[in-house]
Amino acid sequence: MNCLPSPTTRAPKPGLTRQQCQTFTQNLRAWYRVHARVLPWRGVRDPYRTWISEIMLQQTRVNAVIDHYARFLERFPTVVALALAPEEEVLALWSGLGYYRRARMLHRTAKLVVEEHGGTLPSNAVELRRLPGIGAYTSAAIASIAFGEPVAVVDGNVERVLLRVTGRPETPGAAAAAFINITAQALVPQTNAGDHNQAMMELGATVCLPRGPLCDRCPVYDECITRGEHVTAPRAAMRSKRVRYALTTRKAAGGVAVQVLLQRRPAKASLMAGMLELPELQTTEEAPGSFVLTDEPVLRVRHAIVGTNYYVEVIGIPQRRATTKMAQRKDSMDWVLTNDLPNQPITGLTRKVLQRLRLMKSSAGVGSQDVPLLIGRGGKVLVGDDA
Ligand code: ADE
Repeated sequence: MNCLPSPTTRAPKPGLTRQQCQTFTQNLRAWYRVHARVLPWRGVRDPYRTWISEIMLQQTRVNAVIDHYARFLERFPTVVALALAPEEEVLALWSGLGYYRRARMLHRTAKLVVEEHGGTLPSNAVELRRLPGIGAYTSAAIASIAFGEPVAVVDGNVERVLLRVTGRPETPGAAAAAFINITAQALVPQTNAGDHNQAMMELGATVCLPRGPLCDRCPVYDECITRGEHVTAPRAAMRSKRVRYALTTRKAAGGVAVQVLLQRRPAKASLMAGMLELPELQTTEEAPGSFVLTDEPVLRVRHAIVGTNYYVEVIGIPQRRATTKMAQRKDSMDWVLTNDLPNQPITGLTRKVLQRLRLMKSSAGVGSQDVPLLIGRGGKVLVGDDA
């Protein structure tokens, strides 16, 4: 017999029997009690904090989130504090997490929660989902973790676990998504749904890995049909792009750089609008204001942004030459004190460059090696860079 009584509807049936569901859930719970990573958002019962952590965790590495989560909540401990903050400050605290649309939306929604909901988040998934920026995943995560509602969270990790357990290949389409959702829901216990959901995601993030799953450590090995990697749809190849940026500084006596020249992205840019970055250098074909780029880079880095690898060269440009050559862009340029860089909304790439060049302090955890916490639905590996 299946877990959900659905013979009269067109909904697909879950891929596990009621008995298999029970065994799976029990084994997963026992495993999670012992193996759950200690993370700052675990054991938290404040819906606001759960909301912040779940938005940050989307498409971002857990180590980057650990550091940002603490600083963000120190500055914005309540939804009211967040709603009252200037957007610049919200973006500055988000800098390095990437996908800045999330931060803007979070800020907008905080204002709406304060203005229209008296500063309290709704307590169930259906109402949470009516808020801008809160979709199926985030509403289920907040409702189950903060309010104990028995509703399934489905992200890329959960999807992979369920496809493997039920022995299905990855296929696109609504029927396949419905199968995953209904199977995930069939597994959710009536009590401790939040821990169950976190355990599912944890299993995908730490054991049931996209490549080289650690089946010998799996608590649901006996229930799993695949026991290894499953058949996945072909992934799109990453594109490559070369870009060059100018590094221009003002130095104090003694040669220490105290200011750096940054350019503000247009307010209407589709990506990272209004954020600060090192000025991009045009190629020599593009006149006027172009540079002859014979100079050796002071730094080379690779930076991945959804689907594209950027091969970046940073060229040191003396102040006088920069101000003459970039005169046309002077309205969008700003000298920023190196001490003030952490308070500015800087793009992830520029932050990476300035940290590697020791012009900006690195914060613990950011940029360290870590498995991506989230794998998007359809198996796309998502990284914590800009978008
Ligand atoms: N991925 C996103 N949110 C998570 C959580 N709360 N626990 C484990 N993995 C997650």
